[in-house]
Amino acid sequence: MSTRSQLLARLKAGDWVSGQVLTYQLAISRTAIWKHICKLREEGYIIEASRKKGYCLKKAFDLLIEPEIREGLPTAVLGQRQIVCLKETASTNAYAKVLAADGTPEGVLIVAEAQSRGRGRRGREWFSPPGTGLYFTVILKPQIRPTEAPRLTLMMSVAVTEAIERLTALDCRIKWPNDILIGGKKVVGILTEIHTEMDAVDFVIMGIGINVNMRQGSFPPDIADRATSLFIETGKPVSRVALLRACLERLEGHYELFKEGRFDAIMTCWRERSDIIGREIEVDMIGRRHRGVAVDVDADGVLILKDAEGRLQRIFSGDVVIADRTQAESK
Ligand code: BTN
Repeated sequence: MSTRSQLLARLKAGDWVSGQVLTYQLAISRTAIWKHICKLREEGYIIEASRKKGYCLKKAFDLLIEPEIREGLPTAVLGQRQIVCLKETASTNAYAKVLAADGTPEGVLIVAEAQSRGRGRRGREWFSPPGTGLYFTVILKPQIRPTEAPRLTLMMSVAVTEAIERLTALDCRIKWPNDILIGGKKVVGILTEIHTEMDAVDFVIMGIGINVNMRQGSFPPDIADRATSLFIETGKPVSRVALLRACLERLEGHYELFKEGRFDAIMTCWRERSDIIGREIEVDMIGRRHRGVAVDVDADGVLILKDAEGRLQRIFSGDVVIADRTQAESK
């Protein structure tokens, strides 16, 4: 354990600890202690200093900073190479795109406390206030054709769902293509962006937004009746750092399966959590509406819909509304 880690562990263990005790326990000079304190502050830790009492770490429940994310991160690649932690950025996806285009390797993670222009699907905005949500992007470089990219979104939705379930025991459902819902309300959005060269994928930007500790009444009016958060559903704050680690761990597991060509195993998990299979739905495909029963999602991530005449249609993208839920709500 490095001296800085020992100092941090000591600060985490108690309230105030004097410089004298620290010099004795860590066997380093007061000047060296002060230098480590300055470094820890630079990393984002809030440490109070008093001539009389010594040093005291402000106990923050959920510091979204690199050393906290790294501590015990159970992955081999994802988040192990580089973690970029930002106080605020326009969009972690936009930030990641610049890094990836610059040759940044697979597995690099970009996390932000807040986004000023968080991006959602179809040009929408993603509500990204500071302190309560989790907004992150992972850069992947799979050797796939562009048509296979939708599979990664399905993979990610399974990974995030499992991570949330592990931490909260909530029952999450996946609404094709990329929404995670609790009780019919959206809690997670996933935005996958790909960069291609010729007929091959150069890199994939996978952005995830999770409504973690938003309170009731804190969502903007246009999404207030459709959005929820883990806090609202559990009544308890959820650690964003722990959730991020769990997402990366589950993602790495599923990404291994994906690379081994075992996408069918991921789809089995996806179907178990699907909110739409077997249900009457409506899909809005930029102005064109399709109605029918969702039969399946195939290996390319395409939704198979059976219309009223029994014809099967392949839907490549769109916004799904569960028709039976809308009917129940309007009664
Ligand atoms: C959607 O459901 O419309 C997708 C929302 C994706 C939001 C996340 S937040 C982190 C990453 N950065 C962005 O700008 N968007 C994604």
